[in-house]
Amino acid sequence: MIDRLEKIRGEALDALKSASSQADLDEIRAKYLGRKGELADIMSSLGTLSKEERPVVGKESNRIKNELEGEFKKRLDEIKSGAVSAKQAVPKGGRWTPKDTTLPGRMPVVGNRHVFREMLDEIIDIFYGMGFSLALGPDVDTANNNFDSLNTPPDHPSRDIGDTFYIAGNGPDDANPYLLRTHTSPVQVRTMLSQKPPVRIIAPGRCYRKDTPDATHYFSFWQCEGLYVDKHVTMADLKGVLTAFAKKLMGPETEIRFRPHFFPFTEPSVEYDFTCICGGGGCKICKGTGWIEISGAGMVDPEVFRAVGYDPEEWSGYAFGMGVERVAMIRYNIDDIRLLYSNDLRFIEQF
Ligand code: PHE
Repeated sequence: MIDRLEKIRGEALDALKSASSQADLDEIRAKYLGRKGELADIMSSLGTLSKEERPVVGKESNRIKNELEGEFKKRLDEIKSGAVSAKQAVPKGGRWTPKDTTLPGRMPVVGNRHVFREMLDEIIDIFYGMGFSLALGPDVDTANNNFDSLNTPPDHPSRDIGDTFYIAGNGPDDANPYLLRTHTSPVQVRTMLSQKPPVRIIAPGRCYRKDTPDATHYFSFWQCEGLYVDKHVTMADLKGVLTAFAKKLMGPETEIRFRPHFFPFTEPSVEYDFTCICGGGGCKICKGTGWIEISGAGMVDPEVFRAVGYDPEEWSGYAFGMGVERVAMIRYNIDDIRLLYSNDLRFIEQF
């Protein structure tokens, strides 16, 4: 009898260990501790035992019953709190992967596009919407494309070795030296040399100048060029397109203004400003003037048309440039251009 009791105890404990739900526990409890269970069976047969055996077996059954009751309670608590033993979490032949289903989930780290790239795409999108297509040129270009064909005289200060990066072995006094383009305007030249008018392109790209980095300057920056050549193009078309762009980018209240300026490759030339989001109330970005300088623009100079083989009597056009970082800084209220190149997560993650 004592042997049978021990066997029941062992079986019940094994069954408990592999129980994984309350339903399992109920079943096991019925089998061993229930009214018609194994222990009850032994108790009911106590009468058939000898006088000496009876108290020993009775006592042992009670002890096992109490022990099993305790184990059941423990196991029930474990199952309720979701704690599954490490041993049970090991799949057959698998790795040791304990699972704690009570832990909160971990948020996957998801990357996002850099704010500057977002800005660039938005600018491109707005001009696509107005019928412009994309033209690209190389970062390393010739002085011919970057200066000469753009009507920039040989003694122009921007050609100076102190302002422009020349490719090693090239210099401002060489015939047609290679350089890092100082603006995206050479893409105007490349486009007109390779196709007949009409032309309607934007040309975003990286430019380089020997500027000392500060809050608004960097030795490398992006411009987005625009060029439209057709018959009877006027300054009003230029103002219309830039106004539409400004309103799309900064909101319908935005206005633009032209200020007279000079560029060798446009005549007349202007610099253009957008109204500031502060409305002129005196903010840091516009320094209280209510206007923010964006870049230059103008009507394509006849000399440029001649350089690329377009007849200036037949064709007219406008061109504009814009500093992409500048636009991003205004749009996202960023007060230092260097932040855009710092790769500092504290900055990047704000957007
Ligand atoms: N290329 C000029 C600059 O870098 C901007 C510009 C572009 C001006 C096109 C007029 C026309 O400042």
